[in-house]
Parts: sequence; structure tokens; C-alpha cells
Amino acid sequence: MHVELSNVTKVYEDPPQIVTALKDISFHVNEGEFLCIVGPSGCGKSTLLRMIAGLDHPSSGQIRFRGDLLTAPHSKISMVFQTFALLPWRTVIQNVEFGLEVQGRPRKERAEVAMDLLEMVGLKGSENLFPKQLSGGMKQRVGIARALAIDPEVVLMDEAFSAIDEFTAESLRAEVAEIHNETRKTFLLVTHNLPEAIELADRILVLSARPARVKSIVGIEMERPRIQTDSEFVSIHRDIFALLQAELENSIMRHRLSGLKEFKRLQDMEDR
Ligand SMILES: Nc1ncnc2c1ncn2[C@@H]1O[C@H](COP(=O)(O)OP(=O)(O)OP(=O)(O)O)[C@@H](O)[C@H]1O
Ligand SMILES: [Mg+2]
Repeated sequence: MHVELSNVTKVYEDPPQIVTALKDISFHVNEGEFLCIVGPSGCGKSTLLRMIAGLDHPSSGQIRFRGDLLTAPHSKISMVFQTFALLPWRTVIQNVEFGLEVQGRPRKERAEVAMDLLEMVGLKGSENLFPKQLSGGMKQRVGIARALAIDPEVVLMDEAFSAIDEFTAESLRAEVAEIHNETRKTFLLVTHNLPEAIELADRILVLSARPARVKSIVGIEMERPRIQTDSEFVSIHRDIFALLQAELENSIMRHRLSGLKEFKRLQDMEDR
């Protein structure tokens, strides 16, 4: 097991607000596996990823990497962000070199690694541009190259394709699938986009509405590349969509019920 979560619960306490984002989450990711995480909006997907990145901590439960307890960012786990999070005052290549600089690696080695990765993500020739000179798709390519520069074992991606147009997203997805295939690194991708998850995943983790629990883990055995119009694809999509839809209805119903309770309280107060 590469990454393992055991009974992870996350409660945000901002008195008077107390939000339980994740409740008793247990699952694992195998080395080299591509795991996609889907779930209703606001259920706690980003929270989950941030905790694996060591940027936030569980309220209870444990996260382990190679069997060791994870309590801080780890040099073998890196993250690709939805909104790219590039450093605007650094050029493309300087952004990609950032993690290597932090690790104190020599200048020549940094430049070589960064150039190789920029070539791999199709940005050769753009290394001296600044982020503001790039399109969304180019920025995300830099984000991916930066995440890979430190040669991580685990790559975390939070909605990494959702801030770019669908056409570019499709080609980036294919590139990520290829990078996964070539490097056999472990990938964890959070996404709203179910077809995207089915296209990429070895397994899909379906979370329930907040507080998120593990609703289901679905293995995708289809051969790659996966075509959205194939009957197998359509049928997997239908099954997982039904799971998600049930969750959405649950969460709306819970919302309504809590609304009703409040209404009842108001009535009680008026009756007095
Ligand atoms: N730093 C924080 N302080 C307080 N509450 C937070 C914090 N971060 C997240 N939350 C709450 O935790 C819950 C889960 O948030 P999170 O961003 O993990 O959801 P998500 O599944 O990624 O949502 P989306 O699909 O919209 O990106 C939300 O109710 C959110 O308001
Ligand atoms: Mg999120």
C-alpha cells in the first residue's frame, strides 16, 4: 500500500460554526495506481487531498505513506492545483525549478530536469515567458511539470483540468494518462467530471455528501484508451452517476429537513 487513510475525520471549528467535512474515511492507494475521487460539491474532496499533501491535518485518524505516519508535506508527494498557483514573478522554467531549489539541488541539474519536463509537456521554447503571458492550458502544463520536477512518488491533482477549456483539457488528460503509463507514479485526481474519472482511473472512489464518507470504490477494468461512446463506458457512467445522484438527493433532503426544523422552532417561538 502506497498511501493509506484509516478512519480519517476532519472537523473545521470556526465557532459558532462547526463543519464536519470528512467522516471516518478509510481507503488505500496502491503504488502506481491511478485513483480518481468524485463526490458532491463541498463534500470535502479538496480537504482530503490537502491532508495527503500534508497542508492540513486530520482531526482524528491517520494517513500513512509507505507505512509511515504523514504529518507534514513529504518530498515524495507533490500537488497540481486547480488554479495553477504559479509564482508570477518567476519565468516558466524558474517555476518548474522551484521545488528543486528548495531541495538545494545544483543549478545545472535543475535546469536539465526542468528543460526535460518542459519538453515532455510541450512547452519547449516557452521557458522564459512569465505566467501572465501563458494561456490556461499552458499554465497547467507548467503546474504539471513543476509537480513532476521533484520526482515524486505520488502526484495529487485537485480539479486540475477544470479551469481550462474542454478541448485543451482533453489533450492534457491524454498527456497525463501517458505520463502515468510511462512513469508508473501513483496518481490521485479529484474531479467533478465523471467521464474524466472513467477515462483515467484504475479505481474511482465515490464520496457521499458532506460529511463525506466512502460510498463506493469502483474498479474500472476497461482497456485504454477509453472511448466515451463505448457501451461499457456508458454503462459504467450510468452506474456511478446513479450513486452520485442519490447522494445529491440525500443532501438536498437533509438540507430541507434542517430547514423544516428551523421553521418549527420559529413556530414554537411564536406560539409562546
Ligand atoms: N479552512 C477551512 N475552514 C473552515 N471550513 C472549511 C475550510 N476548508 C473547507 N471548509 C469546509 O469544509 C467543507 C468541504 O470543503 P472542500 O473544499 O474540501 O470541499 P470540496 O469537495 O473540495 O468542494 P468542491 O467540489 O466545491 O471543490 C466545506 O463545507 C467547506 O466550507
Ligand atoms: Mg474542491
